[in-house]
Amino acid sequence: MIQHQHWEDSIRILVTDEQHHGSIQVFIPHRTEDKPLDGAADALIYSLWVDEAHRGHEVAKHLMEAAERELKRCGIANVAISWDGRDSPLWVLHWYERLGYEEEALGHQCSTLLKRL
Ligand SMILES: CC(C)(COP(=O)(O)OP(=O)(O)OC[C@H]1O[C@@H](n2cnc3c(N)ncnc32)[C@H](O)[C@@H]1OP(=O)(O)O)[C@@H](O)C(=O)NCCC(=O)NCCS
Repeated sequence: MIQHQHWEDSIRILVTDEQHHGSIQVFIPHRTEDKPLDGAADALIYSLWVDEAHRGHEVAKHLMEAAERELKRCGIANVAISWDGRDSPLWVLHWYERLGYEEEALGHQCSTLLKRL
């Protein structure tokens, strides 16, 4: 399921898999000053989550592919994704890198990565 929400400041997209085991969200701001990575990205992918009972079966992989496909369809060329070590293990950061995301901004236990779609 792909739901587009039209907010005053942005378009937000919610993607869930067909079995409702996980979801991912996308934020596409209208204002240049709200764009992630000081304007280097046009959208932010965030809140990737898969139910614990259904992990390890490529649900996240398919959610990520669906989110990126939808962004391309919307004409978005550059997308950012955030990783936070307080909520997410290090292997997730390495997985994002395998998907083509490159670290742009590093913080304490957190990172923002950029990919050209
Ligand atoms: C991160 C998360 C979404 C992954 O969901 P998932 O459906 O189990 O992931 P997938 O099965 O699609 O696997 C995605 C990749 O991670 C790897 N992976 C999955 N589980 C792993 C594990 N426990 N350890 C190391 N790598 C793992 C897979 O091999 C795959 O990589 P590959 O395609 O290069 O082989 C899930 O663990 C989760 O919801 N975690 C808590 C929230 C979170 O951390 N969200 C990310 C926010 S930044």
